[in-house]
Amino acid sequence: MNQTANVNAELAIKVQDVHFRWPQGEDVLKSFGIDVPRGEFWMLLGNNGSGKSTLLRLLAGLLTPQSGKIQLLHPVGFVFQNPDHQLVMPTVGADVAFGLVEEKLPLAQVRQRVTEALSAVNLLELQRRPIYALSGGQKQRVAIAGAIARHCQVLLLDEPTALLDPDSQLDLVAQVRRLVKSTGMTALWVTHRLDELNYCDGAFLLEQGQVVDRGEPKRLMQRLMQIQETIP
Ligand SMILES: Nc1ncnc2c1ncn2[C@@H]1O[C@H](COP(=O)(O)OP(=O)(O)OP(=O)(O)O)[C@@H](O)[C@H]1O
Ligand SMILES: [Mg+2]
Repeated sequence: MNQTANVNAELAIKVQDVHFRWPQGEDVLKSFGIDVPRGEFWMLLGNNGSGKSTLLRLLAGLLTPQSGKIQLLHPVGFVFQNPDHQLVMPTVGADVAFGLVEEKLPLAQVRQRVTEALSAVNLLELQRRPIYALSGGQKQRVAIAGAIARHCQVLLLDEPTALLDPDSQLDLVAQVRRLVKSTGMTALWVTHRLDELNYCDGAFLLEQGQVVDRGEPKRLMQRLMQIQETIP
């Protein structure tokens, strides 16, 4: 695999000249490159099918590109659009602890990591709550707590607010911003919702598997709003 744990002092994610196509499919990413600075919150926007989820899967090591170089800090945490696809244990605390199984930590340390992670997402009082009795936003925060407990340095979030109501949506994006700023974690967040751009440090705009714009979120928001206004 073309991935290494260290990028450099400034970057958490560096992707250079990546090509990816599905077997018997079309090219999805073409000469693709992005740099995400350490300790920043970046977003990824683009039309349906432009390659956003494919890119996150490549970054998470779930897919391998045909060519090019992907470097990012480890461990990496992944938060899916639908939290029901990734929460596997019956209760909040058990689910966060489950992610630590492979680390074979002493029980006291597991408890401490779970407590810290649930505190970071304001869910400590719900530690014993069954997963089925949580709201969508609370489930997404449990998934994020799982990544915090594993001491992830990079957090990848694929449309984590797509199933949330507007209040929970903005709570979640604000919480991830606070986490990034307080822990030094780096986050890359895929979205279709322009109002979320207010919370990030920078954003990439994808079109047909290539980055067509990158940079300051306010400028990108204006560009995307103008595009939306021209659609009849
Ligand atoms: N498992 C798969 N096998 C073959 N082709 C796939 C597979 N998953 C996605 N694709 C194709 O790859 C391209 C990029 O898909 P991807 O899911 O990355 O887009 P996206 O930008 O995340 O879109 P959306 O905004 O709808 O989530 C699309 O043409 C899609 O049909
Ligand atoms: Mg997608």
